[in-house]
Amino acid sequence: MSKTIILCLVFLSAYQTLSTKNRCDCVLFSNQTECENVPYCSWSNGACGLKNCANIILERCETFFRCSINQDGQCESTGDCSKYTATTQIDCMFKRGNCAAEAIQTNGVYKCRSYTAVTCASQTSENCKNSFENENSFCWLNQQGKCQSYDPNTCSGIPLEICSNLGCDASGTECKAYTCGSNLTVNTCILANDGYFGAKTLCKWNTTTQKCEERSDITELTQNQCSLLTDGGFYWLDDKCTVCPNEDNTDDTSYEILLSSLIIIHLLLQ
Ligand SMILES: *[C@@H]1O[C@H](CO)[C@@H](O)[C@H](O)[C@H]1NC(C)=O
Ligand SMILES: *[C@@H]1O[C@H](CO)[C@@H](O)[C@H](O)[C@H]1NC(C)=O
Ligand SMILES: *[C@@H]1O[C@H](CO)[C@@H](O)[C@H](O)[C@H]1NC(C)=O
Repeated sequence: MSKTIILCLVFLSAYQTLSTKNRCDCVLFSNQTECENVPYCSWSNGACGLKNCANIILERCETFFRCSINQDGQCESTGDCSKYTATTQIDCMFKRGNCAAEAIQTNGVYKCRSYTAVTCASQTSENCKNSFENENSFCWLNQQGKCQSYDPNTCSGIPLEICSNLGCDASGTECKAYTCGSNLTVNTCILANDGYFGAKTLCKWNTTTQKCEERSDITELTQNQCSLLTDGGFYWLDDKCTVCPNEDNTDDTSYEILLSSLIIIHLLLQ
């Protein structure tokens, strides 16, 4: 009986998709290389800490809410919304911090401004595209021209016109998450993102088929690869590449509850 349960556990661990929404707290990276492999962390005085926005590469600057590209084209710690502009309203909302945008363009740009929380469904179509209900719900016009709330933490359901601005795959007829198979090459086959704010699926290059696939085994990663190939979603703990803790990840919690109940059953049956 206990053997069956152990097999069950092995099966569960093997078939859990290797993905994470988590971003490690830099302090968890205890090794300098492991720390410096993560774009938002830096090593100083023998410890890993949060990198200054000014030292973050421009391509990644605005995928961290705390950093934004300023008028001079430099990455800086996100300031007050009113100091930023953007060529699209959605960029005020997700690239210059959580800001709203003026309703009309002036000199080809929208001025960003701070938002007051609203209920999307009660907005007129003119006021819709500037608003948030909260950090996890923003307003945009749906295909019927009605103001609707959308979740920025996943690409699915996002209107196609703003799909790529949220880091999603806009190449088809519907906005969708990138997958490991989304045209990744041997050099870029690392992660597939469900937008800037959603889950990251770990990928691995299959040398036989010459295709990028979902990674099925995290244990093969070395300490140097662990944080690097997971974009800081995993860290090295007790000689193993381990997913970073995240308080608001309900999927992980239910998985852990399932695991612990199986372990308890196993102990009871011994
Ligand atoms: C960090 O890890 C690498 C690879 O395991 C090792 O060679 C190096 O000595 C470690 N550095 C420190 C400061 O522990
Ligand atoms: C795949 O990527 C290459 C290089 O970036 C690009 O030229 C090509 O159009 C892409 N193909 C598809 C189907 O997206
Ligand atoms: C590569 O793909 C083939 C065909 O799908 C599969 O049989 C093989 O196990 C894969 N190799 C690795 C290392 O995952």
